[in-house]
Amino acid sequence: MIFEEEKHELDGKEIILRSAVPDEADMLVDYLKTVTGETPFLLCYPDEVKYTHNEEIKFIEDHNGSDSSMLLLAFVDGEYAGNCSFDGITVSRRAKHRASIGIGLFQKFTGFGLGRLLMERMLEKIQDCGFEQAELTVVSTNDRAYRLYESLGFREYGRIPNANKYDDGTYSDDIIMIKSL
Ligand SMILES: CC(C)(COP(=O)(O)OP(=O)(O)OC[C@H]1O[C@@H](n2cnc3c(N)ncnc32)[C@H](O)[C@@H]1OP(=O)(O)O)[C@@H](O)C(=O)NCCC(=O)NCCS
Repeated sequence: MIFEEEKHELDGKEIILRSAVPDEADMLVDYLKTVTGETPFLLCYPDEVKYTHNEEIKFIEDHNGSDSSMLLLAFVDGEYAGNCSFDGITVSRRAKHRASIGIGLFQKFTGFGLGRLLMERMLEKIQDCGFEQAELTVVSTNDRAYRLYESLGFREYGRIPNANKYDDGTYSDDIIMIKSL
């Protein structure tokens, strides 16, 4: 699904929200390699990001062409700041009412409301598509994300204990959060 470009202002900065274009494939892979190293809150370590140029182009085209998923990029004063995406959980009729959300910003673009803006626009799109619930997983030590999701109406429905084991031998839980739409 394409997100038609929108302009916003936050904290005196110009924010552009729009879908990705295939030419941005390398930028998106580089972004993933950076953001996965900035916090322990995303899916993997930077050295595990192995997407090729062509796989990333397919990822962009699949999201832009689908009616049950969307990739939304954010630019702050012209600089790529991160993205938010949603995907229908499955094509099975029983679970077609559920969408999952992912979001990740470069650290330098956190803490001034961009995450909230992206999540709000994303939730509206998900609702417009007819989904009945939005779901996500957040690492138990990620207070900022947890508070953002809670303030948007997500509630905690369960935990996977020790879901993440870090290279230093420590663990964190995954928390499953859901918002009814
Ligand atoms: C989590 C993330 C998307 C939040 O986006 P953000 O732009 O930093 O958050 P916002 O500035 O919109 O703040 C949203 C809310 O978070 C909370 N918050 C912000 N900074 C916080 C902090 N340092 N500590 C605790 N809570 C904080 C506040 O409740 C805030 O609500 P408010 O708007 O009423 O003040 C972003 O920080 C990020 O991408 N982090 C790295 C990757 C990540 O953790 N992804 C999420 C995986 S589930």
